[in-house]
Amino acid sequence: MKRTHHCAELNTAHLEQTVILNGWVKKWRNLGGLLFIDIRDRYGVTQVVFNPETDTALYETAKTLRGEDVIAVKGKVAARPADMVNKKLKTGEIELLAAELEVLNKSKTPPFEIVDELEVHEELRLKYRYLDLRRKFLQNNLMIRSKLYHAIRAFFNKHEFVEIETPVLMKSTPEGARDFLVPSRNYPGRFFALPQSPQTYKQILMIAGFDRYFQIVKCFRDEDLRRDRQPEFTQIDVEMSFVDERDVMETAGNLLRSLFREILNVELADPIPMLTFKEAMERFGNDKPDLRFGMEIQKLNDLFRNSEFKVFRSVLDSGGEIAAILVEQEESFSRKKIDKLVERARELGAAGLAYVKYGDQTFSGGIAKFISAEEKAGLISKLKPADGSLLLIVADSYETTFSVLGQLRLEIGAELNMIDKNAFAPLWVVDFPLLEFSEEEKRYIARHHPFTSPKESDLELLEKDASKALARAYDLVLNGNEIAGGSIRIHTKALQEKMFNALKIDKDEAQAKFGFLMEALEYGAPPHGGIAFGLDRLVMLMVGAESIRDVIAFPKTTSALSLMDNAPSEVSEQQLQELKLQIRNK
Ligand code: AMO
Repeated sequence: MKRTHHCAELNTAHLEQTVILNGWVKKWRNLGGLLFIDIRDRYGVTQVVFNPETDTALYETAKTLRGEDVIAVKGKVAARPADMVNKKLKTGEIELLAAELEVLNKSKTPPFEIVDELEVHEELRLKYRYLDLRRKFLQNNLMIRSKLYHAIRAFFNKHEFVEIETPVLMKSTPEGARDFLVPSRNYPGRFFALPQSPQTYKQILMIAGFDRYFQIVKCFRDEDLRRDRQPEFTQIDVEMSFVDERDVMETAGNLLRSLFREILNVELADPIPMLTFKEAMERFGNDKPDLRFGMEIQKLNDLFRNSEFKVFRSVLDSGGEIAAILVEQEESFSRKKIDKLVERARELGAAGLAYVKYGDQTFSGGIAKFISAEEKAGLISKLKPADGSLLLIVADSYETTFSVLGQLRLEIGAELNMIDKNAFAPLWVVDFPLLEFSEEEKRYIARHHPFTSPKESDLELLEKDASKALARAYDLVLNGNEIAGGSIRIHTKALQEKMFNALKIDKDEAQAKFGFLMEALEYGAPPHGGIAFGLDRLVMLMVGAESIRDVIAFPKTTSALSLMDNAPSEVSEQQLQELKLQIRNK
């Protein structure tokens, strides 16, 4: 009883043919004395009919079938009666008149019904992942992911990139997150690390002369998880020699556009728009702006330069920032709604949130009485508000003002349905600071990674005031998500040493951690640069999934557990002994 067709294949062209289908029982119902069973495989569903008048024994066996039983059915393809035709289904015009049935395997009653529409608790879904993965939407997500692999390889093949695998057991060279470590049995007390990315290897491949490299590669980071983060995830990793920023960005942009074209039939913007980090912060309040809607942040320092309003005055005098977003909507905001926004702004770290309403050609309410006529006129000519608009103003430190307004912009945009869910808005963000202050480590760390080159014009700053230097780094943003990041690298030992200096990594530590790379840089390292896409995030956006877990076959929970196989798990005393490891505190 091997299948002759799959479950989405049969149509009116097969009428009268005898065929065999294999698959899972999706649902069954008794109607007018007949038993209808939907048989499902990954391709689709076909309706099978058991008629007691044709074969009573067969009908009785079929009646014992339950959801998720695995069956083989042989029968003749027939046209459905006109009132049973289902145009939405590929096989909706036919049905299979069963003549033979073999139960290949019974199924226990599944803990949840295998249908898309059902909300199932995520823990249950992850524990029974094989059942979850039978659901259509997850199958679709993984099918698109599979198509993506092919399209990526085709793109890079066409452009003469070499696909090279780099080790999974490597030296610990942290790139910002915590490493996953693997103890070495041969060398007790020594550890491999799983790659946070193949960064050092791909640079060394450039030194080896491979010129253009790519890899679809697993990366591992032991960091706090979120909606769009997993401890192991996949990158499309790229490195190129003899290039500058524009070359890498062009290649990455072309890749993205070709993937969207081929897989979703969507034409992305060409060229992809670009903002500097500073512009992104000041117009959108973060470094990954969602360009699917407007409501940009407006800087108001100039307008309020002579303000006598105490709050504004003290912020301006202490070098802070006044800025606002203009919220336009049909009905005016209720007092209650505004209070909620104020509360939210405080939660986000602002000292407060001021507002004024616009109507009848003037501003009223909130702090309107503290704003001079001249300032009001200035606001009107700058913002061109519509009647009923609400102006939300934050006056605070530079960082707080923009970040709070940026977050409010996102939340209000979502609440007022301003975001076009079908739009794809890519964006390059460039001119990132080279360093950022780590509150956790109380020191400056590399914002991208320590191999990223400073801007040529900022080389002197690197030794004088590295925190002001900009990097030759770029991020690719899509709908408010960072989907790729890369940079032009440092390719001389001298500059790499200066960078380690700026990061307060002393010579011994640099030698111990990165000595191999420093040495390699001395043997004719070409100028090079690259980028890496987060493949899971990309798929997530392409299929419109809510969570990164919906595009990964076997994901971890947000607390980094694999519920299906219960990893991580304890190991035997013998395994620990072989590794000369002892557990200190459980
Ligand atoms: P970066 O750290 O920016 O760069 O990572 C590149 C892209 O990988 C994705 N990403 C993640 N996706 C899921 N879960 C995670 N925990 C996670 N962390 C990162 C993001 C990100 O944009 N070696 C450099 C690249 C380079 O310079 O060429 C790197 O790894 O989409």
